[in-house]
Amino acid sequence: MVDGRELIMFGSNDYLGFAADPNVLAAAHAALEKHGAGTGMNPLLGTTSTHRELIRALRDFTNCEDVLLFNSCTAANCAVIATLVGPDDVVLSDELNHASIVDGCRLARGRTIIYRHNDIESLRRGLAEAKTSRLRLVVTDGVFSMEGECAPLREILEVVKQARGVLVVDESHSAGVIGPSGRGTGEFYGIGRGEFIQTGTLAKAFGAGIGGYVAGPRDAVAHLRDRARFFIFTSGVPAVCAGAAIAALKLLDTEPARLERLRANVVMLRSGLQSLGFELLGGDGPIVPVLLGTTERARRLSLSLLQMGIYVPAFSFPIVPEGSARLRLQVSAAHTREDLQEALSAFETARRT
Ligand SMILES: Cc1ncc(COP(=O)(O)O)c(C=O)c1O
Repeated sequence: MVDGRELIMFGSNDYLGFAADPNVLAAAHAALEKHGAGTGMNPLLGTTSTHRELIRALRDFTNCEDVLLFNSCTAANCAVIATLVGPDDVVLSDELNHASIVDGCRLARGRTIIYRHNDIESLRRGLAEAKTSRLRLVVTDGVFSMEGECAPLREILEVVKQARGVLVVDESHSAGVIGPSGRGTGEFYGIGRGEFIQTGTLAKAFGAGIGGYVAGPRDAVAHLRDRARFFIFTSGVPAVCAGAAIAALKLLDTEPARLERLRANVVMLRSGLQSLGFELLGGDGPIVPVLLGTTERARRLSLSLLQMGIYVPAFSFPIVPEGSARLRLQVSAAHTREDLQEALSAFETARRT
């Protein structure tokens, strides 16, 4: 509801509809009652039973040896990069990586090499340039938030391994929604346990308010626990969010129909928009970017849709490269077929404006 008007939301990260699910809300309430509204002490000094349960659940979910919780994925990304990359090291980052990865690179004391988006040859050249450095840390989004597509992880992993580097994948937009059981891009590509370090957020598919995590080998996580400034000197995940995330992780496995509904919704929306003649990016998940070119065109279309009750945000430079302004739809399992039909009808009308 906005100013008394009901809109259909296509700009939410709540991909599976967990944020308003009664089980998730009940778990959040229970955690709130048990631990209170505050975050208590700094997480370095101790955690609650609910946080420990979330860590166990995330270990199972990510299939990694250990997990460290952060108050956001922004903190997790900055922590991993700034802590692991020292003065003699190089971090290699995709040019379209999320801003928090860019900030992590800026904080790191080593050199940063930006490689071209999803371009394996460009990454290979960067790795060759960094061959005398102590550590080569390659960081990529699993699913790119503005493009909606997966990174080619198999190829990336192959060149990273050849160069004896370490790979970090930000699963913020893929955890819960990509791969047969929603385990993220590793599962999507059939890549086994322990091949890369993962970062993720509790704030998107898990619908759990706020929070982030790093999952990876025991020694890397232990090093972050000891050294990461974004872990040591800041507050932890609120218990209410940890409780909500535990419930969401359970539902992901006990209600696989949600993921199927999400996928069916994506297919319906993408094919509908394509048959209306819109140029779409992505294709690997619930982010559906509609490429429009100029900022003016994107804003005009977003406004017409809003007037018809459909909320779809427009993105332009500097969030996306100049000349590639777009609308970004985020599909959810909570959308009904009627919601999608209404959105498609609005796009058909707005196309003519
Ligand atoms: C790829 C990616 N990484 C990290 C983040 C930040 O996550 P958080 O909100 O938990 O800081 C986002 C949020 O938009 C994102 O899209």
